[in-house]
Amino acid sequence: MLSFFLTAGILTLSVTASPLFARQLPITLPFTKVINTTGTSIVQSDQARIRALMDRTIRNAKEYVSPINTPVTNQAVYYLAAVGIGTPPTVYNLIVDTGSSITWVGASPSKPYVITSSSIDTGYGASVSYGSGFMIGEEYNDTVTIGPIDIYNQSIVGAEFTIGFTSEDGILGLGPIDLTEADTTSDREVPTVVDTAFYEGLTAARSIAVSFEPTNVTPIVNGEITIGSVDSTKYIPQITYTPTTTTSPASQYWGIDQAIFYNGEIISNTTAGIVDTGTTFLWLASDAYARYQNATGALFDDDTSLLTITQDQYEHLADLVFDIGGTEFALTPNAQIWPRTLNTLIDGTADKIYLVVGNLGRPTGSGNDFTDGQVFLERFYSVYDSASNSVGLANTVLTRSVIN
Ligand SMILES: *[C@@H]1O[C@H](CO)[C@@H](O)[C@H](O)[C@H]1NC(C)=O
Ligand SMILES: *[C@@H]1O[C@H](CO)[C@@H](O)[C@H](O)[C@H]1NC(C)=O
Ligand SMILES: *[C@@H]1O[C@H](CO)[C@@H](O)[C@H](O)[C@H]1NC(C)=O
Ligand SMILES: *[C@@H]1O[C@H](CO)[C@@H](O)[C@H](O)[C@H]1NC(C)=O
Ligand SMILES: *[C@@H]1O[C@H](CO)[C@@H](O)[C@H](O)[C@H]1NC(C)=O
Repeated sequence: MLSFFLTAGILTLSVTASPLFARQLPITLPFTKVINTTGTSIVQSDQARIRALMDRTIRNAKEYVSPINTPVTNQAVYYLAAVGIGTPPTVYNLIVDTGSSITWVGASPSKPYVITSSSIDTGYGASVSYGSGFMIGEEYNDTVTIGPIDIYNQSIVGAEFTIGFTSEDGILGLGPIDLTEADTTSDREVPTVVDTAFYEGLTAARSIAVSFEPTNVTPIVNGEITIGSVDSTKYIPQITYTPTTTTSPASQYWGIDQAIFYNGEIISNTTAGIVDTGTTFLWLASDAYARYQNATGALFDDDTSLLTITQDQYEHLADLVFDIGGTEFALTPNAQIWPRTLNTLIDGTADKIYLVVGNLGRPTGSGNDFTDGQVFLERFYSVYDSASNSVGLANTVLTRSVIN
């Protein structure tokens, strides 16, 4: 099955000047969700990504390169954004990735990195292995244009050789800067666009904020990333910040500590895991998953590898409550089910009800005991702040909406 929607390349921007930072316009990057389930399922794709993120931390620790398996673009769901590079800019459609931190172009031979008057060869090489793909190339400093904003002297890698990329132009790495340390021959950390925009005084903060809107139509979900500020029209009433976790390996990504409750029952005591825009479902350690299954009375469904419940069980479903930094965020019954109009996308049956909670397949205690993916992020506004090492979350007008 193939649903492919691509409006990136037509870059639409909503820019409102802040009275406080007249020079600091919000840097708003709209992105388009692409779903391509050819050769994989969304569940398998999530599992492969979670494995790749875990492998990468092991690889960094042991300094060996893990075998290349499936391409990054075998990810069933990913996000594309249009970004200009060079003077005059060449517009590239880049995969937005908060799980890696190098920005590079040239994935397709028909659209290589174009050297212009603003390109400065740093003399260094760079390579990134995604556990599921590979890129090696030459590092440049160049001007990156996002909407009306030019970010100067941004590290960009022009790929010379890649494995595992098909129709996209490269990757916009928005993960934590620490991930870049082992990636270039300079052996230094490479500032991401988020860091560079801040250092150049273009933004007031070294952060990104992400808004996803839940949808029940064949997904062309347009989301928005705001670099260096937050979009106050996207959340209510305020953002609660919690320090990132100190538990490894979750701490190498946007990791947090959270506890989960259902109907007053503990599903998970406070433990570390990650918040990830690149994962679709909500994944729990096997013991927490078993408690959730038991509490909801759900059955495992072989076709989808997800849990299924009856209409009657759905009507009795309670909020799944996340305690993050002492603040409670409720995933409503409707937010716990997959949009029924999209059941065929997950190989499901039209009239069944599937839960969006998956089993990580390992018990609590691995240092990465959950992944809060898009099904979670669609219901809350999220902020990733590198300066204060914290993750912010807020309710939105869609937190309690009934659309699935
Ligand atoms: C969808 O994925 C398949 C398998 O990875 C790939 O061959 C194909 O080019 C992709 N389609 C699009 C439109 O990207
Ligand atoms: C590239 O830019 C960084 C700042 O982002 C700077 O530290 C470095 O010196 C620049 N390299 C060259 C070769 O200009
Ligand atoms: C980029 O860095 C170089 C030195 O590496 C410097 O000469 C140049 O002025 C910088 N460009 C901008 C636009 O800041
Ligand atoms: C949560 O922690 C408490 C106190 O340590 C313990 O008694 C309880 O068994 C734990 N519950 C779960 C579900 O892990
Ligand atoms: C399932 O829930 C029942 C009560 O709701 C409880 O008695 C039982 O121990 C639970 N089983 C597991 C595996 O948690």
